[in-house]
This record gives sequence, C-alpha cells and structure tokens, in this order.
Amino acid sequence: MKPIAMVTARAETLPRIIIDACAAAGRPVAGLVQVGDEADRLKTHLPVLGGQELLSDAAFLSAHDIFVAIGDGRRKALSEAVLARGGTVATVIHPAATVSASATIGAGTVVSAGVVVQMDAQVGRYCSLNTACTVDHDNVLADGVNIAPGAHLAGGVQVGEGAFIGIGATIKGWLRIGARATVGAGAVVLKEVPDGVTVVGNPARPMATKT
Ligand SMILES: CC(C)(COP(=O)(O)OP(=O)(O)OC[C@H]1O[C@@H](n2cnc3c(N)ncnc32)[C@H](O)[C@@H]1OP(=O)(O)O)[C@@H](O)C(=O)NCCC(=O)NCCS
Repeated sequence: MKPIAMVTARAETLPRIIIDACAAAGRPVAGLVQVGDEADRLKTHLPVLGGQELLSDAAFLSAHDIFVAIGDGRRKALSEAVLARGGTVATVIHPAATVSASATIGAGTVVSAGVVVQMDAQVGRYCSLNTACTVDHDNVLADGVNIAPGAHLAGGVQVGEGAFIGIGATIKGWLRIGARATVGAGAVVLKEVPDGVTVVGNPARPMATKT
C-alpha cells in the first residue's frame, strides 16, 4: 500500500481524523499537500511536501495515495482531478470500525472508530462517517454525505449527495434524505426530507426560516 499524501487547506478536524485513523491502522502518511492560502494552517508533526502543483506531478501521484482532507467542495473537485490524472484516492477505515464484507465504501471516504456499516450498505465517495454512527443494512449514501457522531440510520435509508446528518440523529428505515439536506442534532426523522431542507426535533420538522 502506498503512503498517503494528505491534501489540506486549513486547520480543521477532518485531517486530524485521517491522521488518527491511519496511525491506528498502521498506514503511513507521508505528509501534507498544502493548497489554498488560508491563514489558519493545520499544525502537525507531518512534513509539508509541497503545494497544489504536486497533484499534477505524475511521479508524485504514482508514489502516493491521495486523501483530500478539506471539508468543502474542494474535497470532491481535487479528488476527481487526481483520478483524472491517473492518481489514486485513498479510502481510510479506522480498525475499530466494523464494515460488513458485503458493504461498499467509496474512494475518498473516511470511516471513524466505532462506526458500524451493515450488510449490503453502499457508501459513496468523499463521505465522512464519524465516531460511532451506524449505517444499517441496504442504506445507499451518495457522494459527499457527512454523518456526525452517534447518528443512527435504520435499514434501507437513502441519503442524497452532500447531505449532513447531525450528531445523535435517528433516521427511520427506508426513508430518503434529500441531496444537501441537513438533519439537526438529535432529530428523529420519521418522514422523507426533501432536497436542501433542514429538519430538527422529534418528530423532525422543517426548521422555521429566519426573517
Ligand atoms: C440544525 C442546525 C444546522 C441549525 O443551525 P442554525 O441554522 O445555526 O440554527 P440556530 O442555532 O440559529 O437555531 C435556530 C432555532 O432552531 C433551534 N434548533 C437548532 N438546532 C436544533 C436542533 N438540532 N434541534 C432542535 N432545535 C434546534 C434553536 O433552538 C433555535 O430556536 P429558537 O429560534 O426558538 O431559539 C444546527 O443547530 C444543528 O443541529 N447542527 C448539527 C451540529 C452537529 O451535529 N455537529 C456535529 C459535528 S461532527
């Protein structure tokens, strides 16, 4: 397995999750590829290997698996640019996660400690499954889905691209959570959530819009 070159732009939690999961899994991280000019840089013992130009360098791409640890649209855009240039995008699974042999996890996705992904679940690319969330049987998660710690998705749930499920939320089985939808912390979702809508509460209802 090639060492991971981790692409970062600023100090945020996602790169630290990747570093921690790789350390637990004994997977080497060669260092950081620092993109953008954000002032708030990640502080780590890892060396900075260079800037965004490395993502166009064929020798660099053939020597590393790339993980884009940036929590915005650049995660998908930069990962796909790497794939288009013949590079590989890493999938990082903490050894304390339990992933069914019949589940699939897309490239560029991170699965944190304590997560359970059950049989025949399909998890897309560039997703973050955070601490101890559960993705039960037959779930289908599109690309860029972010599940916060301790959220539980019952069987057969479908989650659209870029949706966010907040900490401790519970989703009833066989529902669809729309693309770019947000499920608030602790919500109990008993009905479909349309694209782009934020729901909160028990039972979850669309959040009142601010005037
Ligand atoms: C739903 C959410 C995105 C809304 O954020 P926001 O737009 O900034 O909303 P506000 O904090 O301004 O709250 C607006 C109102 O909704 C209520 N509200 C917000 N989130 C709520 C929630 N999860 N459940 C119930 N009510 C909620 C607030 O109490 C407030 O009510 P009020 O106007 O009567 O005081 C956010 O509160 C949330 O739950 N985020 C999830 C965070 C999370 O899981 N983080 C994990 C990171 S790993």
